Amino acid sequence: MKLKTVQGDITSFKTDAIVNAANSSLLGGGGVDGAIHRSGGPEILEECKKIVAKQVSCKTGVAVITTAGELPSKYVIHTVGPVWNGGDNKESQKLANCYKNSLALAVENNCKTISFPNISTGVYRFPKEKAANIAVKTVTDFLSAHNQVQEVIFVCFDDENFRLTKNELENRD
Ligand code: APR
Repeated sequence: MKLKTVQGDITSFKTDAIVNAANSSLLGGGGVDGAIHRSGGPEILEECKKIVAKQVSCKTGVAVITTAGELPSKYVIHTVGPVWNGGDNKESQKLANCYKNSLALAVENNCKTISFPNISTGVYRFPKEKAANIAVKTVTDFLSAHNQVQEVIFVCFDDENFRLTKNELENRD
């Protein structure tokens, strides 16, 4: 099964890469961003600072890669999700770009297994049902064109995201 969803804390997942729902500063924050930096340790922030020094900030939809520090995975792929502003500001396309660009970067770095959180559905207030549909569709489309990826796991922290993501996966089959 190349695509599945589980409920849990992404910082404990041993996939080659885990994806972080970061902000444009790449200097950490709350939510999953805070959890990854807390558990991964200072190495991750050091590499983020080097990236920001070069490219000033990380734009919405873009993905960058760093070490995973103390985390069980090899890499952390940081991507900046869109803040929900009612939906007329290309939020859906920007969210799809987060998944696409994170997967492309994972493939470039020979990652065979990748875990995603529910990007933008916390602080950034993206409607969870719409976000789950975009996530599953975008990843499904990517996997159909890239057989290098062996497994993608949607790691849902809260019950609602888990239920919605499971529904999207079941409706897709
Ligand atoms: N493992 C997996 N998922 C988690 C974890 C965790 N340890 N902690 C939180 N989540 C989930 C939340 O429940 C939510 O479903 O991650 C999803 C994304 O929520 P946020 O972390 O708030 O991210 P987002 O909505 O994209 O907002 C990003 O929040 O933390 C700041 O620095 C971050 O400014 C950025 C903004």
